[in-house]
Amino acid sequence: MNKKMRLAAFVTAGPGRPGGWRYPGSVPGWLDASYYHNIARTLEDGRFDLAFFPDILSVPDRFAGSTDSQLRYGALGSLRVDPLPVMASMAAVTRHLGIAATVSTSYAQPFTVARSFASLDHLTAGRAAWNIVTSFQESEARNFNLDAQFDRSTRYERADEFLQVAAKLWDSWEDGALVLDEETPLFADPDRVHRIDHEGRYFTVRGPLNVPRPPQGYPVLIQAGASSKGKDFAAHWSDVIFCSHASKESAQAFYTEIKERAALFGRDPDHIKILPSITPIVAPTSARAKELAEEIFELVPPLGGLSTLAYHLDVDLSTFPLDERLPDVEVPGVEGHYHEVREITERDGLTLRQLGKQYGGRTEGGFIGTAADVADGLQEWFEDGAADGFTLQVPHQPGGFETFTREVVPQLQRRGLFRTEYEGTTLRENLGLDRPDRGEWAIRAGGPA
Ligand SMILES: Cc1cc2nc3c(=O)[nH]c(=O)nc-3n(C[C@H](O)[C@H](O)[C@H](O)COP(=O)(O)O)c2cc1C
Repeated sequence: MNKKMRLAAFVTAGPGRPGGWRYPGSVPGWLDASYYHNIARTLEDGRFDLAFFPDILSVPDRFAGSTDSQLRYGALGSLRVDPLPVMASMAAVTRHLGIAATVSTSYAQPFTVARSFASLDHLTAGRAAWNIVTSFQESEARNFNLDAQFDRSTRYERADEFLQVAAKLWDSWEDGALVLDEETPLFADPDRVHRIDHEGRYFTVRGPLNVPRPPQGYPVLIQAGASSKGKDFAAHWSDVIFCSHASKESAQAFYTEIKERAALFGRDPDHIKILPSITPIVAPTSARAKELAEEIFELVPPLGGLSTLAYHLDVDLSTFPLDERLPDVEVPGVEGHYHEVREITERDGLTLRQLGKQYGGRTEGGFIGTAADVADGLQEWFEDGAADGFTLQVPHQPGGFETFTREVVPQLQRRGLFRTEYEGTTLRENLGLDRPDRGEWAIRAGGPA
């Protein structure tokens, strides 16, 4: 089989799973550059496509209207270092690893974001990626002069225009416009640097950008929307899609749907790489892996998990009885996570308290076993049309990345499923994606159908 699996690592610049930071051997080094350097080197040794940094623009307070549970339990989002400087710092100690940072289109301005990613793409020689999020927390809106967040429709409409502006700005310098001819003299050719004169519903931007066209044309664009509008947006714009599924079957359904939507929007479905999130637990024997999964699970305080879930769904779960099942709720937040917890609740008959623990300690895909067992499972998802590769989450940092790289990556390489050397120099080349021509944004634009 020639097709190769893609691997992204979900690295948190702060605590990840509630419980993970308490695991013996996990290192709380989020405020220390060398922590990220070590992770970057491990991932590059493992020939990962990219390291990916999630982000949030507030300390979540969705559980009981307070930040207490997030802070007390070190739940996801309790502490978050800005991913852009982390990304630059990681890039300085690597040569091949792609690096992705999350930036929200709901609170940033396109000129600033286009400029940051163009700059990072130059400084990394073509290894930058942007995880485009629309944000889904009221607590975030409150940090940006607003009392409430935009509704989902507005978030995606704004995101679509944001992407058009950003892409026009990346295109505002033609390739080769920076001439640097000392004799003429011609620093940059004015005929090849253009204003964009964008006037839209949300943004008015004249341009041009003050950074030449990025080495990758556009940085690699990543998205993780799971609502119908989110999936449309992803199928229009993204090169890579993250998602989260409790079973192979739901991953397969999502995979098929996105590829069909992409084809409908005139894009090559193979140019969108779908990387479901996995949290494998690996040990020398299956029995030890199960034991280890249990030890990690025991470190998760149910309220820590519920606090994270409340934040993901943007629903105050403190208002429901802990010893009953979660009733049907309207989810202003991440619909994908809601589908996932419905699936777990139904399958395992969980009360809300049990769900909190389960959610905080979840191991998407159930990949628990020896390195060979985990590789078998990944191979099955990959070959059965559920994934183009995976986004590796780890129960604790940085040890989880080290174990996967040391134990599972060689298994995948021996099976011919994963590279032994980087194929190209840019992230796009390694992912098997073409460099977009100037103007490609017009093919991707159009907004949710
Ligand atoms: C695996 C995964 C990772 C995500 N990471 C982030 C993140 O770091 N920051 C963020 O604001 N949203 C994140 N999201 C949320 C999505 O970007 C999106 O905003 C959310 O799914 C709501 O989209 P929807 O309205 O289409 O459901 C993530 C979603 C998934 C499934």
